Amino acid sequence: MFEFDKSTIAIVVPKLPALGLRAASQADLDLLRKWKNEQRQFFFHQEEITEDQQKQWYESFIKRPYDLMLMTTYEQQVFGCLGIRWQEDHWDIYNIILGLQDFGSRGLMGQSFAALLAYAITLKQAPITLQVLKHNPAVAWYQKQRFGITEIHESHFSMKYQPNLKR
Ligand SMILES: CC(C)(COP(=O)(O)OP(=O)(O)OC[C@H]1O[C@@H](n2cnc3c(N)ncnc32)[C@H](O)[C@@H]1OP(=O)(O)O)[C@@H](O)C(=O)NCCC(=O)NCCS
Repeated sequence: MFEFDKSTIAIVVPKLPALGLRAASQADLDLLRKWKNEQRQFFFHQEEITEDQQKQWYESFIKRPYDLMLMTTYEQQVFGCLGIRWQEDHWDIYNIILGLQDFGSRGLMGQSFAALLAYAITLKQAPITLQVLKHNPAVAWYQKQRFGITEIHESHFSMKYQPNLKR
């Protein structure tokens, strides 16, 4: 029987082979927590995450086969992270963070994100959605990645991947 082991995921971006995505491991936890805390203004959870909370999250995360946290690498240097998790009947995007600003505004996060979407669809063909705070400049970035706004809430937008959307 096919068993999917998320800890072995490694994706190379064909257009730019120096760019890759690999499964996050326990060794990445400090970095993930640091980046999330540094950029928490952009996320729903505004409190600092403690080391214990991060460990608890990881314990449950490793038990969910279709909850993926990938680290983005450029020439082996880890510079960001991308999360996607299965929720009943669709994929939900989360924890998209450019951790090292030197790697920003070069299209590297965008290309990594596109590779993540393509990979998730090979696992399960289903809608891909996300929730983003209205004030977050990432709204425009997601629109460039072909996500359209589907619902407007008081503090956030729901967005959905629409591959045929014009950029
Ligand atoms: C959202 C986020 C991941 C984007 O990272 P980034 O490094 O800016 O992303 P990219 O490099 O892919 O795109 C940024 C810009 O580079 C441009 N760019 C430059 N060179 C490019 C290239 N070769 N190919 C494609 N785009 C390129 C893009 O067009 C884009 O233009 P813009 O500034 O007008 O939007 C980053 O801003 C971030 O971590 N934000 C904080 C956390 C957050 O809010 N996450 C989302 C929570 S829901």
